[in-house]
Amino acid sequence: MNVVGVSAYFHDSSCCLLQDGKLVAAASEERFSRFKHDPRLPIQAFRYCLEEGGIDITDIDCLAYYEQPTKKLARQLTFPIFSNGDPNLSWLDARKPEREIRELLGVEAPIRFYEHHLSHAASSFYFSGFDEAAILTVDGVGEWATCTYALGSDDHIRVLDEVRFPHSVGLFYSAITAFLGFDVLDGEYKVMGLAPYGEPRFVPEMRQLIRLREDGQVELDLRFFDFRSMNAMYTSELEELLRATPRAPESPIEAVHKDLAKSAQVVLEETLLGQAEHLFTSTRQQRLCLAGGVALNCVANARLLRDGPFEEIFVQPAAGDAGSCLGAAALAHLDLTGRRHSRDRLDHVYLGPDYASDEIAYALQKLEVLAIDFRGKDTELVATVADHLARGCVVGWFQGRAEFGPRSLGARSILADPRAEHMRDHINRLVKKREGFRPFAPSILATRVGDHLDLDHRSPFMLETCRVTSNLSLPAITHVDGSCRPQTVDGQTNPRFAALLEAFESRTGCPFLLNTSFNVRGEPIVCSPLDALRCFGASGMDYLVLADFLIPQEALPESFARFASATMPRPWNDAFSREPLHAVYTFI
Ligand SMILES: [Fe+2]
Repeated sequence: MNVVGVSAYFHDSSCCLLQDGKLVAAASEERFSRFKHDPRLPIQAFRYCLEEGGIDITDIDCLAYYEQPTKKLARQLTFPIFSNGDPNLSWLDARKPEREIRELLGVEAPIRFYEHHLSHAASSFYFSGFDEAAILTVDGVGEWATCTYALGSDDHIRVLDEVRFPHSVGLFYSAITAFLGFDVLDGEYKVMGLAPYGEPRFVPEMRQLIRLREDGQVELDLRFFDFRSMNAMYTSELEELLRATPRAPESPIEAVHKDLAKSAQVVLEETLLGQAEHLFTSTRQQRLCLAGGVALNCVANARLLRDGPFEEIFVQPAAGDAGSCLGAAALAHLDLTGRRHSRDRLDHVYLGPDYASDEIAYALQKLEVLAIDFRGKDTELVATVADHLARGCVVGWFQGRAEFGPRSLGARSILADPRAEHMRDHINRLVKKREGFRPFAPSILATRVGDHLDLDHRSPFMLETCRVTSNLSLPAITHVDGSCRPQTVDGQTNPRFAALLEAFESRTGCPFLLNTSFNVRGEPIVCSPLDALRCFGASGMDYLVLADFLIPQEALPESFARFASATMPRPWNDAFSREPLHAVYTFI
């Protein structure tokens, strides 16, 4: 039974393959196309999934699509966003997904369409390993729903209630993101990162914007929001309410911006906690499954677990729309077989492409890159990299299958010593070129967590924050409020990365490594060895580890850096400048 899941035409288009209930592959189109948040039909990710499963198009039993286009069109027509007079309505086409799946993917198998939030819910519940759980999905908007309260039991998901557009927790946070001068879609997590620097002095005003009723319904005060405009998501009344002017993108971040971020984060957490209480009362479950773009707010997730009513929480690692293809595929598997595809918890997301060492060796030779060959010398490679990290080098780490979802988890990562005071600025200057206030995340051996973090369970996907309790000074990965967003690593799911952490600890006494995504600003995380070489060449990292090969920066031919800089991908907004800015309107 081959079920392909697809999410597309919004942002982060993705594809996965369930083969007899086993998730054999999942990838986002942006990793192949090199356009960040690529919203187009995931043609390359689809090809990859079939290749990984060893099947061709005729072997597909069903393609599961992550939302219902006709329902979505009804909402788009009811709340049109052409108040700016844009006559181009060609994108309002409910038949496009099916037509392009037939024409561009060549799929002749039946297509099943599942509701957006049901796909979110399934992407969490059916991969959580729980037999029963409450399910909360929260995003900007799907077809009509912006949040669902659901119960998963007896292998089925029952939606108990939903909040409908334009009332939306995600759009509230997104509007504040836009007000603070960050890109909607990308910038929500910058607001979260900025919040600990501020004071919650705008909380009363934020509470005027969004209100949670006792029955679980969320209400936005629509005087302050404008989801029809393609230019902003808020009205001038918001400026009056907040007694502040919107921050221009890239302009200096001032105290008022930090205070607004803090206040929005506080009210987001309050709202989610209230929603969790409501769901707990309705279901009396001890476990919660979370999905939807808002579930990527790892500070709120930690608060839900700490202060909320549930004993255990599972967050879908690709909680945004990328991961919805998993949910749609799981729903189709259930419909076709009458059985849930799996009762196991998703314990890793190394579901993307891998590249053989021999293939990499050939490419390095052709590119005249003088790499050090460690094939068959695993321990020596790990020891050498640990030595370089311990003396302050920044290392691009490319190993095995690429991660699915927004986080780098030791397959396509940039690594460094988290103890060094200057490391955050150093990496920002070299490669990330991102806002200095945003801390980097650490990876730590799962067995060492208790000695260094206030965390009593595994957190393999960097989806929650916790307090750093370590005696070590870790300025590069510790936020201003003393928290961090860890990845706990175990030797079973990523043995070479675990070995590197062990080797680094044996040299330094520090079981952490700074782990940030392997990309430069505006670029998707690298996927192929060539992407990694190009990013490495365009940045100032010291070493690149490509599978079994170690490449010092100086080993690149002189011409390579020029090639790398000249061929870096264009930002998403340039690539799709002719498309309507859906992201302003419905972002998650
Ligand atoms: Fe969504």
